[in-house]
Amino acid sequence: MTIQLNLTSCAMKGDFTSNVPDTWEKEFNKIVSHDEGHFYKMPSEQDILSECKTVYEKFKNHKNFIHVGMGGSSLGPEMLVDALATPLKRKNMTFLSNIEPDWIAEQLKDLSLKESVFYFVSKSGNTMESISLFLAIKNEMQSQGIKPEQFKDHIIVCTGPTGGVLNELITEYNLTKLEIPVHLGGRFSVLSAVGALPCLFAGIDPTPIWQGAKDLRDNLEAGDFKNNLFSLGMLLDELNNKGVTQTVLMPYSSKLKKFTEWFIQLWSESLGKKKNLSGEDIFTGLTPISSIGTTDQHSQMQLFMEGPRDKFVFFLEVENQSKDYSLNHGLPFKSLEIYQNRKLTDIFKAELEGTMKAFQDYGLPHVRLSIDGINEQNLGRLIFFFEALTVVMGVAFSVNPFDQPGVEASKVNANKWLNGWTGQD
Ligand code: PA5
Repeated sequence: MTIQLNLTSCAMKGDFTSNVPDTWEKEFNKIVSHDEGHFYKMPSEQDILSECKTVYEKFKNHKNFIHVGMGGSSLGPEMLVDALATPLKRKNMTFLSNIEPDWIAEQLKDLSLKESVFYFVSKSGNTMESISLFLAIKNEMQSQGIKPEQFKDHIIVCTGPTGGVLNELITEYNLTKLEIPVHLGGRFSVLSAVGALPCLFAGIDPTPIWQGAKDLRDNLEAGDFKNNLFSLGMLLDELNNKGVTQTVLMPYSSKLKKFTEWFIQLWSESLGKKKNLSGEDIFTGLTPISSIGTTDQHSQMQLFMEGPRDKFVFFLEVENQSKDYSLNHGLPFKSLEIYQNRKLTDIFKAELEGTMKAFQDYGLPHVRLSIDGINEQNLGRLIFFFEALTVVMGVAFSVNPFDQPGVEASKVNANKWLNGWTGQD
């Protein structure tokens, strides 16, 4: 039977047979009660929301909101806006998360910078791409007649408490600052000013998102759900030892496409590690894959079903839609009979159920997650669920889920290149 976890009610169906080592809970508790596990505290940090509201009030008359940041400094707010904002509001939101000049030019093409507010987000305040974009945009602003003393009316910065060139630029131009807590890493930062301010500009109330995350955390603390989370971690760990090293996240919702991208970063950077906590080489990690139902049933599904048996799939069902479409047709064709008296949600459900059954019949490892709809509370629950599961997997693999030493080499080389190294040894 498929294991089912309802993230709205925190109920579980099915049976995990795994025996979770006693040490896991102790390790997890140690992490989340120390500085490194700051993400665990974020659902209760309501002060951030009022600070963001004050900043929003000051800048809300700008027509366009342009978010600039890399990795965890962008993917969280992008996924919230994509899932929750109305198309009309989304039109005024731009995310610059790459430095490709032609693409940047396209994004900015129709925007008057005089009617825009830029939100520069970088925890370190030093990321080369984010700083380059600050400088490029500063020059663009000046070329559109915005004087340096007016930058403060168009720029908000979100960065760590101290250090980093962004903090120097804040002082230089007297810019408004929102702070990222010192122990909150980029990919765990969506429930901070990183995610809250863009939500306000996109017409999304962040309070229920925080509440949803807090509900899930309360359920974890209550015990039962924590056992489920650890058992799921144990299952993934056991499967990994048997060569199931790829994790597919497959929501049946196009609105959650960006959520899968956020998950990809969280899972990749947190778990893809050369060394374990004892310093031994282990080269571990689970490769995350984004897939959308039903769309990718017509693309990746063939590979999932009959390709290498190295994948675990998180199916994610959204139980309710607020709109539906009748398929009644009054046509005499035999092949259209199954559509008579049906709605689009029936077909959607049939496709999901058909896929679940096929997975069971093929004996492919998977779990069925569900939420009762796409709304703020459920996004908060999903965020917290995957953040907590990532930390559980860090415990399982005995790696530090909060660092990313593997990305340093390319940063160092980029710096060398700018300092005259030609790329040849
Ligand atoms: O999760 C992480 O820590 C990274 O992906 C960072 O978010 C990314 O590298 C950007 O770093 P920063 O926020 O310091 O600019």
